[in-house]
Amino acid sequence: MAALNPLLAKVFRGPLDLNGPVLGRIFYLFEYARSYIEERSQAFDARFGTDTSVPVFERDQKTSVHFYVPTTASVIYQILSSIPLQPNQYVFVDMGSGKGRALLVASEFPFAKIVGIERSDHLHRIAEENIKRYKPASQQCAAFDLHCMDALDYSYGDEPLVLFLFDPFGREILRNVIANLEASLKARPREAYVVYVYPQYEDLLQNSSVLHRVRVGGPRWQPWSQYVVYAASTAAGGDQAGAENPSHHDVGSDSAVTTM
Ligand SMILES: C[S@@+](CC[C@H](N)C(=O)[O-])C[C@H]1O[C@@H](n2cnc3c(N)ncnc32)[C@H](O)[C@@H]1O
Repeated sequence: MAALNPLLAKVFRGPLDLNGPVLGRIFYLFEYARSYIEERSQAFDARFGTDTSVPVFERDQKTSVHFYVPTTASVIYQILSSIPLQPNQYVFVDMGSGKGRALLVASEFPFAKIVGIERSDHLHRIAEENIKRYKPASQQCAAFDLHCMDALDYSYGDEPLVLFLFDPFGREILRNVIANLEASLKARPREAYVVYVYPQYEDLLQNSSVLHRVRVGGPRWQPWSQYVVYAASTAAGGDQAGAENPSHHDVGSDSAVTTM
């Protein structure tokens, strides 16, 4: 998305908005097929006895749409493996956690706490059930903290954090979520990473005075698995953090995104 020229990006941004009330329904069919194929190959739910694969398109008010689609598990593993986490210090926060796929994968990393913020009560309850069922031997963090609430009302703590976003909301909400994070980082400077999968509104992060991009990756022909990672200034010290540089792109895959 960031590789498109600004005019094309503007033209395609609206139609490619998975959360749109009209086009969201069309994308739902696509997402349904995609998730079905992905579950057949990765068998995430089949292996763990969870319910994370099937997309959900809910509409509770005229203007309120909950579109749940799970992130591809292997993409979350790939991204989190690339972040230099100090064990048991970082909080993982998934804004728009849906059925909890990203929370479950994050629990295989040494986070101090895993927070899920989800507006839909129905999806929030499914995520709570999934957490009870997900007990792989490789799990490193079982300190889950799930909230059924609007992302705009979430207050960050004092800990270093990884904020995970898989296309959870439209532009205006994302703008406010980022502004809240920036205010928190300015008030209490600490290490922080923002992982944004399917980064259709990445320009909001590009304009940040606090965050800067350290990584871009994901298969070129799978826009839903492309991602960017941003770091707060204090989190990107040195080469270890994977500062943005062609040698740090996920070019191991021949279809990885390398243009920016
Ligand atoms: C594409 S799904 C992401 C699911 C999950 N993060 C994952 O990776 O598997 C987006 C989720 O964001 C939720 N959402 C949308 N707007 C929200 C808001 N304002 N506050 C909290 N959650 C929201 C939707 O209900 C949906 O479950």
